[in-house]
Amino acid sequence: MPLIKIADSNIEFACAIDDTVTRAALRAGLGMPYECNVGSCGTCKFELVEGQITSAWAEAPALSDRDRLKNRVLGCQAHPAGDCTVKVMLAEQYLPLHRPKLFSAQLAATREITHDIREFHFEVEPAVAFLPGQYALLSLPGVQGQRAYSMSNVASRTGVWQFLIKRKPDGRGTAMLFDRLRIGDSIGIDGPYGNGYLREDSPRDVVCVAGGSGISPMLSIAHAVMHSPRMAARSLHFFYGGRTQRDICGEAELRNQPGFGERLFFYPSLSIVDADTMWTGHVGFVHENIMPTIGATPSAYEYYFAGPPPMTQATQRTLMQNKVPLTQMHFDQFY
Ligand code: FES
Repeated sequence: MPLIKIADSNIEFACAIDDTVTRAALRAGLGMPYECNVGSCGTCKFELVEGQITSAWAEAPALSDRDRLKNRVLGCQAHPAGDCTVKVMLAEQYLPLHRPKLFSAQLAATREITHDIREFHFEVEPAVAFLPGQYALLSLPGVQGQRAYSMSNVASRTGVWQFLIKRKPDGRGTAMLFDRLRIGDSIGIDGPYGNGYLREDSPRDVVCVAGGSGISPMLSIAHAVMHSPRMAARSLHFFYGGRTQRDICGEAELRNQPGFGERLFFYPSLSIVDADTMWTGHVGFVHENIMPTIGATPSAYEYYFAGPPPMTQATQRTLMQNKVPLTQMHFDQFY
């Protein structure tokens, strides 16, 4: 198996030729920078000093021509052809609390959530741990490449990994999941990954903001907050945005949590309200509803958010404009 050496250090780790350098580093317990794992964000970029690497996605948007000229590669797409030396700064914030693993899972049940979001319930034997808010890379039968989806539940000894997934028009991954995968079928899972996980030791109340299938990791965080003895004094404000009324979801799942209406609050937003819609909630984009709802001290909260890039970017901008420190914003960038 090829060995990857970190330049100017005595750190090295093994990486199978079909694994990626970033994931192998995380499996070895190293804090290798990354976010999306799918070639979009550029966080995993490093310089190849010696050796040969093939990229799973040579045209990945996160890599510029200038990067290519400087021998930079995306670690999350990099398969080693032999021993390599790479120049990268490891960082504590990326240290995996649960090292990612490759394992298989069986589809046990599904449930319709909205017209285009479905819950998929996979069983994993033996159980594999993850943190609330993390994601996994799914390998689906007959589909090339992996798809990143976030878990909607919390890890349990029974080994259930649950995902709320939105059907993508013309998406091959979701076509397989929604139309062809049957109960009892097996898929491959690689995970857990992600840095937008719940910080249970924070002394602040929690705000979750979601749109689309970003509901999935936010439900996981909400479940964990409402059941954690360490967070029993924390309130949670859950914002969800959809285009029209049929896109709104999450309230039924939150109502099942202890403390709904007492320390767990749900605020849906619709961006389109036509004359026939009976709607008494917020009208507009979800990020516009955060500050008017939580009041005068935005920096008194810990923020978690997930969803389509325009929504997460607008949320981040809003928080920055309201002087929320970056250390209180938790999300994984998929753009
Ligand atoms: Fe590699 Fe995002 S982690 S591009």
